[in-house]
Amino acid sequence: MNRQSLAGLRHRLRPGTVPLRTGLAGGEGGGAPLPYPSGWFCLALSREVPAGAVVNRRFMGRDVVLYRTRGGVLRVVDAHCPHLGAHLGAGGVVDGEHLVCPFHRFAFDVGGSCVKVPGGDPPKATLGQFTVRERGRIIYVWNGHDAAPPDWEPSELPDDGFSPAASWSTLLTSHPQEVMESFVDYRHQPIVHNVSLREVAPPADEGPLLRISFSAAIRLSVGLATIRVEQGLVLSGLGLASGDVTLHQVGMSLGVVLTATPVGPWQTRLRVFAMTETASRADSTRLRKAASTSWSAVAGQALVRTIAHQMGQDARIWNRKRYEPEPRLAPEESAIGQYRGWVRQFYRS
Ligand code: FES
Ligand SMILES: [Fe+2]
Repeated sequence: MNRQSLAGLRHRLRPGTVPLRTGLAGGEGGGAPLPYPSGWFCLALSREVPAGAVVNRRFMGRDVVLYRTRGGVLRVVDAHCPHLGAHLGAGGVVDGEHLVCPFHRFAFDVGGSCVKVPGGDPPKATLGQFTVRERGRIIYVWNGHDAAPPDWEPSELPDDGFSPAASWSTLLTSHPQEVMESFVDYRHQPIVHNVSLREVAPPADEGPLLRISFSAAIRLSVGLATIRVEQGLVLSGLGLASGDVTLHQVGMSLGVVLTATPVGPWQTRLRVFAMTETASRADSTRLRKAASTSWSAVAGQALVRTIAHQMGQDARIWNRKRYEPEPRLAPEESAIGQYRGWVRQFYRS
């Protein structure tokens, strides 16, 4: 039995839970495949799933459905109904606090239990659920070890005092580990991006977090300013990178969130968000609030455009490269070696 069918068997044995996805995600360019990692992965912006909405996404080679009840409860569930397998994202609707299947109108509550069927008693049936979090108006789901609850939280992400001022997304022929590795691959920066970058300190391993310290000067594409990224980035597993960008010239700081979500074998949805403080935290006077909000939006858009341009440069490499399990690293590339050791924790089952 291969690993894919083993994962499928585990799923059938544990109704109502979503098992660790470990299917081998083979690289297009050949070389060794990488499994799907554990961790937190972005599926959508919060505003893409308003109250009453049912939204489809691909995640780790399967369809999942996001929905929000009329009362505002967000859930991410298996796309297929446990009754006779209808796709809940193809005609399923939110009715109050329930998700209702389009085929025979079985209704599921926010705990995943079937609680109502037309003209009879509900069967004992449970819809598989993913653990979900909303941080900074972005939706994340957990892929964990054999349906256990998350053993860490995406604590470094901008919280609910922040929201995306600008965002960008693309689909890559790659794997989250390959995408995140680029942040410790300092050598490619001047060559691929024409960016001068200096490692400030070796990456700091803090369990599921990896703090990366570098200093870089990046010119925003609108010519607004040259920004210096001094704090670097924090990787929270292989699905998330976040940090602050300070625009010294205009005395402004923006949050940046980069997410890499495996949607299928060697296919990754990359998203970039520029995060700004929401109105409740902004300046008290209306005039200052408006000024600060529009400055943030302009700067956020410029920043996202700049990062998107860089990611486009990376994508030309990522889309055709293969994964090298035993890279031949130069002595000054110890950050990559350290990263390769740190990532192992996300494949334990
Ligand atoms: S398949 Fe969903 S209610 Fe029958
Ligand atoms: Fe890069």
